[in-house]
Amino acid sequence: MQKCLYRACLIVVASVLFASCGKKVTIDSYALIPQPVEMTVESGTFSLTSSTKCYAGNMGQNDPVIKFISTRLRQWHLNPVLAGKPEANCLQFLVNEDYVDELGDEGYQIDVDKDGVAVSANTERGLFYGFQTFVQMLPEDVATTRYSRIDLPYCHIKDYPRFGWRGCHLDVSRHFFGVSQVKKILDVMALYKMNKFHWHLTDDHGWRIEIEKYPLLNDIGSWRVDRDDQPWGEADPAGEGGFRDAGPVGFHKPIIVNYAAERFIDVVPEIEIPGHCCAILEAYPQFACAGDDTTYTVQFGPYWPPRAILCGGNDSVMTFLKDVMDEIIPLFPYKYIHIGGDEAVKDNWTRCPRCKKRMHDLKLTDCEQLQGWMIVEMENYVRLQGRSIIGWDEMLDGNVSSEATVMSWRGESGGIAAARRGNDVIMTPIDYCYFNFYQANADFQPPAMPNTLITLDKVYGYDPMPKGLTPRQQKHILGGQANLWTEYINTPEMTEYMLLPRLCAMAENLWTPPSAKSWQRFRANVARHTVRLEANDYTVGSGSFKPLVDVEKTADGKRLVTLDGEVEGTRFYYRVGDGPFVRYECPFEVAKGDSISTVAFYKGMMKEKVYTFNIK
Ligand code: ACM
Ligand code: ZN
Repeated sequence: MQKCLYRACLIVVASVLFASCGKKVTIDSYALIPQPVEMTVESGTFSLTSSTKCYAGNMGQNDPVIKFISTRLRQWHLNPVLAGKPEANCLQFLVNEDYVDELGDEGYQIDVDKDGVAVSANTERGLFYGFQTFVQMLPEDVATTRYSRIDLPYCHIKDYPRFGWRGCHLDVSRHFFGVSQVKKILDVMALYKMNKFHWHLTDDHGWRIEIEKYPLLNDIGSWRVDRDDQPWGEADPAGEGGFRDAGPVGFHKPIIVNYAAERFIDVVPEIEIPGHCCAILEAYPQFACAGDDTTYTVQFGPYWPPRAILCGGNDSVMTFLKDVMDEIIPLFPYKYIHIGGDEAVKDNWTRCPRCKKRMHDLKLTDCEQLQGWMIVEMENYVRLQGRSIIGWDEMLDGNVSSEATVMSWRGESGGIAAARRGNDVIMTPIDYCYFNFYQANADFQPPAMPNTLITLDKVYGYDPMPKGLTPRQQKHILGGQANLWTEYINTPEMTEYMLLPRLCAMAENLWTPPSAKSWQRFRANVARHTVRLEANDYTVGSGSFKPLVDVEKTADGKRLVTLDGEVEGTRFYYRVGDGPFVRYECPFEVAKGDSISTVAFYKGMMKEKVYTFNIK
């Protein structure tokens, strides 16, 4: 009896200690990215505490998704006891017994009510996305703060994606990023329900995947001179025989494929042909055109125009490419292999007797057709092994089968043309989706790819569904993708700085129907997600402080000027003509032709140049 009492006292003391060692918080409102299709919040809260249980429904605790979920919850000291049956005060994760058509394979439902939190979906993938939404319902600092009680407002969410292809690309050739950084990018993709990782593995600046049959690809092609002390745009060319054993270089064995699969992300390797191949040609110069006496080296810094090209008339080049595919295909289980095809300068082909002979023999009228022939050869080879190809939109300049998927990057026109001719399309137009460009005024930013400004606001305004397609053609638009070329990006932190928060905007563009999007709400959510991302050790760009100016014509012919900022909390000052600068509080009236100047401040610091513009 006494022993029992003693034990009971210990349990009480232990639970009081547990409860008192964490913070209590009531979530005021949910900040979800991407915004769900339907969400209603009701009065009342459910308290998640140490006595909340977890019921894994029909799946059991060894199911990979349930393991993923319980590992995460444990990391955050939310360690619900597993329940054998559904009960009150419970987190439930359930795969629907009957398929709910509206949710499809990727959708899910969440209900928070007096009984707890129930996440349900038709598939494990859907359940995983439901969990990612649940994660975003928890406090922003849940990864770094111990909570003993989290009060979650009652709500009902029904959610499913607009597009099936929600991609993010990473160039590991221009600068090499190792496994831990790739995993970090996969983690953040998963948080935002992105599901395709396009891994740009080969280029002029390094070959980044192990190929056993051609060891020089790695012994030579994966290494280059160390010039990272020089700005990319002004770097001395790599030259010959430079010192090679330093700098952010190396190559991958694709051990991230399982890690990605646990996060329901498919990995698409890109093996670039026929251009962007200095790394191949330094290792195997025999694959260059006949008569080309260039000494190729793995590049550093701008390499433009990219003249290195594999010979289109040399059978051993095709054998090499097929051998490479034989090693790539077993490593990457997903359906697609990306074969590049962009920016191949074909001067060498016009001079090379072997290329000329191939064109003559095959009755090809120009070099574009020769590239088309190479691509179709590769496509047929890949297809024999049950796979399909993706290529950049230059693919449309030569012959391309209707089975190939086109990645529209030089604008939207390639994607539109491809969808009209019946090819599947992934939209990634350079003006919206290339996160290697500046996200804010270059004067206030670390160096990035110059001459284009892609602000968060601009990305958010992008609709991956091009205008002017019939419903049938629209079905060919699989989705879109953010691309991160890494010429100017030479640290892991910079990959994050350039991706975030713009990846949040792209994720919402690809998931949320346009009718459920709102810039004002998204902007406020980004501020809270910045806190969440930083608590998870991500480096987040602060965005653009350039004013968003709206001019409205009034009934009496004047102009009403509204200033807004991309970053919540930006303070604007303005002046009309040569008048004094005044703080912007609300929309103000001016006359047509007036000159307005603005300055932006954030947290007490001037964050932008003075902008002057005339009111039309
Ligand atoms: C590309 O940006 N050259 C596809
Ligand atoms: Zn040739």
